[in-house]
Amino acid sequence: MISIKQMNEKDFDLCYKFDLNTISLWSKNQWVNEFKKRDIQIFGLVFENLVIGICVFQVILDEVQINYFVVNQEFRNRGFGSFLMNFLIRRCEKLNINKLLLEVSQKNVIAEKFYSSFAFSTVGKRRNYYKDGSDALLKEKILTTK
Ligand SMILES: CC(C)(COP(=O)(O)OP(=O)(O)OC[C@H]1O[C@@H](n2cnc3c(N)ncnc32)[C@H](O)[C@@H]1OP(=O)(O)O)[C@@H](O)C(=O)NCCC(=O)NCCS
Repeated sequence: MISIKQMNEKDFDLCYKFDLNTISLWSKNQWVNEFKKRDIQIFGLVFENLVIGICVFQVILDEVQINYFVVNQEFRNRGFGSFLMNFLIRRCEKLNINKLLLEVSQKNVIAEKFYSSFAFSTVGKRRNYYKDGSDALLKEKILTTK
């Protein structure tokens, strides 16, 4: 069974360890800061009592910045990412959000395909944005249904 769990401070370790075991994007301090940010929302995708995906986003007026969107490697390409994204989109629609924004490495072909499948379009580029020197593509999706 799949469900969505809203994360709070008690789930800090769970989030940090999930990241450590997947893409190791943020240090412990970065996770601490993320939890402290205003208007941050963190959701876990739960499958058979296991958190297999996490999405972190920040509401800024009528826009949402997706800061983190990851499915555990073992569960990828089975529709779980789409489930989490559809949840996020529905939630944003309820909050009257107009636009979803994110950054993704130009080298991340799979994530690019994933976001394209949700009609995100590239609206800009940040050169040498990542540690490995790759560019970040700035992507957005306009939400029309309200
Ligand atoms: C990007 C990510 C979240 C996708 O999650 P997922 O559960 O694997 O995605 P889904 O199974 O729902 O796939 C949805 C669509 O994404 C694309 N996609 C997903 N995996 C793909 C792959 N291995 N190759 C090509 N396209 C792929 C396809 O368009 C797919 O649609 P289809 O199944 O009809 O072909 C996951 O790959 C991930 O966590 N990657 C590492 C972290 C990351 O890069 N996050 C984004 C950083 S901004």
